[in-house]
Amino acid sequence: MTPSPTKTAFVTGGSRGIGAAIVKRLVQDGAAVAFTYVSSALKAEALVDELTQQGGRVLAIQADSADAAALTAAIEQAAAAFGHLDILVNSAGIANNKAVEDHTLAEFRQIMAVHVEAPFVATQAVLPHMAAGGRIITIGSNFAERVPAANTTLYATSKAALLGFTKGLARDLGPRRITVNLIQPGPIDTDMNPADGPFSDWIRNQMAIPEFGQGADIASLVAWVAGPESRFMTGAILTIDGGMNT
Ligand SMILES: NC(=O)c1ccc[n+]([C@@H]2O[C@H](COP(=O)([O-])OP(=O)(O)OC[C@H]3O[C@@H](n4cnc5c(N)ncnc54)[C@H](OP(=O)(O)O)[C@@H]3O)[C@@H](O)[C@H]2O)c1
Repeated sequence: MTPSPTKTAFVTGGSRGIGAAIVKRLVQDGAAVAFTYVSSALKAEALVDELTQQGGRVLAIQADSADAAALTAAIEQAAAAFGHLDILVNSAGIANNKAVEDHTLAEFRQIMAVHVEAPFVATQAVLPHMAAGGRIITIGSNFAERVPAANTTLYATSKAALLGFTKGLARDLGPRRITVNLIQPGPIDTDMNPADGPFSDWIRNQMAIPEFGQGADIASLVAWVAGPESRFMTGAILTIDGGMNT
């Protein structure tokens, strides 16, 4: 029996939080993984060291998702290193929560660049390297469909755009047997949304399961969506939020 070829993945924003958990899980499942980061070079380096010591193949690339040229170059670098790319995970994200009149236009453009433009740019860059069986997975948010708190207009707007992106792209790429799916986490204990943060008790009160999830909870769903058993699912919006939106 010939062994199946190694899967390869590109993950944006893999130095910390949910992205780092996704990188770990995909590597532990046997994939070669390239991931991007912006400012957390030491964390990116530590993650590469940890996973390399476990026998994994991991590449960290500094690339700002808001910089289309840098993101495209990072994908080209990963494709050159691995030969092809099977899985794209758009996970890089920012939260800059404040009243809408306090936002600058530059802040609006920044959040749209990281959450909406970057998945488009990454998709265009990855497609020449992705064959049938490919997977495009974007990390959205449960705030795309229900907004239970003020001061999150731009965040919710940007994450809501990913529903249209996912469904449209699923139509475009279905004939090529590339699936496109959106995973919408709820509260996950990361630097962006710590389980001991100022609003965490209020957040827990909104949930059916009153506790924050872990990055690994999202990573395990990503692993299934990235794997062969999900081959018939595309254009799906998968909310995993401890029942916050129910
Ligand atoms: N935590 C939650 O409760 C929650 C809920 C729903 C959805 N999400 C979504 O899940 C994703 C990950 O969130 P998280 O909670 O893990 O956040 P996090 O702990 O703040 O980590 C963010 C990650 O994204 C990277 N990043 C930020 N801006 C970037 C940019 N311009 N280009 C490339 N990488 C960038 C960071 O890299 P550096 O450290 O190098 O800057 C870091 O690795 C985001 O899309 C977020 O919106 C999170």
